[in-house]
Amino acid sequence: MGKKIVILNGSPRMNGNTSSLTAEFKRGAEEAGNEVQEFFLPKMKINGCLGCWSGGKDPEHPCSQRDDMEKIYPAYRDADVVVLASPLYYWFISGFLKNAFDRLFAIAECDPDYCNPKKQCVLIMAAEGAGFEESEHWYDHLEKHIGWKSLGKILCGYVTQPGDTKGKPELKQAYDLGKSIK
Ligand SMILES: Cc1cc2nc3c(=O)[nH]c(=O)nc-3n(C[C@H](O)[C@H](O)[C@H](O)COP(=O)(O)O)c2cc1C
Repeated sequence: MGKKIVILNGSPRMNGNTSSLTAEFKRGAEEAGNEVQEFFLPKMKINGCLGCWSGGKDPEHPCSQRDDMEKIYPAYRDADVVVLASPLYYWFISGFLKNAFDRLFAIAECDPDYCNPKKQCVLIMAAEGAGFEESEHWYDHLEKHIGWKSLGKILCGYVTQPGDTKGKPELKQAYDLGKSIK
C-alpha cells in the first residue's frame, strides 16, 4: 500500500516554477501508488498564528481560529509525508507557507508534551538565483528538532518566470523523488 502525501504549496503562481516541480513530484509519487493531496495555500483563507496557546483542546478543531486550515488538519494528521513547496522569497519560504506551517502547531498542542506528529518530509523550492542556504538551514532544523525525516530536497535555481523550469534537471529529480516513495 502506498503512502499518504500532502503537498503544502506556498506559490501564488499556480502555473509557476514551484508548481511545475510539485506536478512532476506528484506524477512520480502517484505512479508509485501513493495518494497525493496538494493544497495551493495562496488560494485558501489561512490566517497567521495568533500565538494564543489555546489550541489542542478539541481534536476536531485543533486551532482556536476557524479558517481553511480546517481542510488541511485532517490531511496532515493522516499524512506519512509532508512536502513543503515554495518559491524563494527574500532568501526564505513564502509567507503563505510559513503561515500554514506555524498553524500546524495546533496539532502539536493536541499532545500533552507538544510533540509534533512524526512525518517524513520533502523540500521543493524555486528561485531566480540560488540562495537557498537559509531555507535549507530552517528545513534541517525540522529534522533535528521536531523529529521529521527528510526524504530529499529539490532546489531549482535560476528560474524566474513560469515555464523556466522547462529542460531543467530538477524536474526529473522531482519526478524521481516522488517515484521513489513507497
Ligand atoms: C517577493 C519576492 C521575493 C523574491 N526573493 C527572491 C530571493 O530572495 N532570491 C531569489 O533567488 N529569487 C527571489 N525571488 C524570485 C522567485 O523566487 C522566482 O521568480 C521563482 O521562480 C518564483 O517561483 P514561482 O514561479 O513558483 O512563483 C523573489 C520573488 C518575489 C516575488
